Amino acid sequence: MKITVVNGSPKGKYSITLQTIRYLERVNKACEFTVIDAGQKIKSLEKDFKEAKMLLENCDIVLFSYPVYTFLAPSQLHRFIELMKENDVNVKGKVATQITTSKHFYDVTAHKYVEENSLDMGMNFVRGLSADMEDLLCDKGRQEAEMFLERLLFSYENKIYVSPKNEEKSYTPQPVVGLEVVESKKEDKDILIITDENGKGGNLGDMISAFRQALPYKTRIVNISDYPLAGGCLGCFRCAVSEKCVYKDGFDSFLRNYIQKADAIIYAFKIKDHSMGSRFKMYDDRNFCNGHRTVTVGMPVGYLVSGEYSRENNLKTVIEARCETGGNFLCGVATDEYSTSEQIKMLANTLTFALETKHRTPQSFYGVGGMKIFRDLIYQMRGMMRADHKFYKKQGIYDFPQKKKLTSMKMYLVGALLSNEKILSKMGNKMNEGMIAPYEKMFAKMDKAKQ
Ligand SMILES: Cc1cc2nc3c(=O)[nH]c(=O)nc-3n(C[C@H](O)[C@H](O)[C@H](O)COP(=O)(O)O)c2cc1C
Repeated sequence: MKITVVNGSPKGKYSITLQTIRYLERVNKACEFTVIDAGQKIKSLEKDFKEAKMLLENCDIVLFSYPVYTFLAPSQLHRFIELMKENDVNVKGKVATQITTSKHFYDVTAHKYVEENSLDMGMNFVRGLSADMEDLLCDKGRQEAEMFLERLLFSYENKIYVSPKNEEKSYTPQPVVGLEVVESKKEDKDILIITDENGKGGNLGDMISAFRQALPYKTRIVNISDYPLAGGCLGCFRCAVSEKCVYKDGFDSFLRNYIQKADAIIYAFKIKDHSMGSRFKMYDDRNFCNGHRTVTVGMPVGYLVSGEYSRENNLKTVIEARCETGGNFLCGVATDEYSTSEQIKMLANTLTFALETKHRTPQSFYGVGGMKIFRDLIYQMRGMMRADHKFYKKQGIYDFPQKKKLTSMKMYLVGALLSNEKILSKMGNKMNEGMIAPYEKMFAKMDKAKQ
């Protein structure tokens, strides 16, 4: 069985994820693994894709091996997938799968992204393995890796794949027409538009101009196509200690001084391969130099997206979850699928409302769940991730349940009461009454204050 491994980690042979491949190589001699160092050699692959194409076309299984980076894959793997499509790599009918390592923070969206692109290229997809960074070092993790390979080979033999998408494409970008221009612009807020618009984005340029016209605030643009980013995040973790990126392109201080200080951010991109495209992803990954510090909590955020967004459920999750974990209010996502001008106007109005009323919403599962992963991770790594630790302590993010001793005690008491049949039968509706008692007290106070 010939397996071509696309190693999307920028760390090349030092990739933690790749160690699972090395392990599987040792336990199953029938599989022949050949690795393409996509993450580390992306610049040379951009110049010459011939060998990669040959390895992809002459194997039985394509296995994407990569770390989860900011809800998706590293920008280098996004670029590799772009190159596969640009170079018409014929992998139709082949089996594809994936292995990732991460801390399970939005590993699901990363997996969906690779699955969607594999299906786009006509491959048959077998669900992959999402392992924790340290899994391979314990028996359970090694067994799970072996079981994954066993299932992969079984699926290959028996042709058991995830169901492909069955969708008719009917998207035609709708132009911006007849949008009311707000002439006088307020200057007391710093509204930033971050885009990779490069003139090839179809409607995107027009959408950005229309949004700027419709908003009653002055806006400024950061175009990441022009920003001299030296490359994608290398995953070296040096910034975790020094807060400085190893690249000397000045992006870390640019991020802190020109981006994070804004009052609101609008992201504008054209959908590419079910994501924001590799250039935008490079910008996203490079934000890692700020660690896991949610420094823009309360900042309203919006999106201008050119493309068939309504069909991109995974991308929707990524956008919504990013806002949720960042503590940002998502003002809306204006697309050019239909009524482009109306959607842009709605986004401009909602942003204005959010800025003027300092609108906030509580976090949902996306945000609460995501932050709990970070909380535990940073606490464990506090010796190394010092800036994150300091920030989490200051912001009260370490809300460990074991600290809430009084709540635990109360629950023991409730548990004891509920397990006693006699008390239970005497209680009647007292339990429910007890639960709404604090609300009753609050309403009574409000009513009294009104009198
Ligand atoms: C830029 C960057 C972004 C990351 N984003 C995530 C993430 O969204 N979710 C997660 O669980 N881990 C995230 N991680 C952690 C990596 O997924 C994890 O360290 C992985 O095991 C590294 O694998 P590798 O050694 O194969 O590159 C991120 C790491 C870096 C450097």
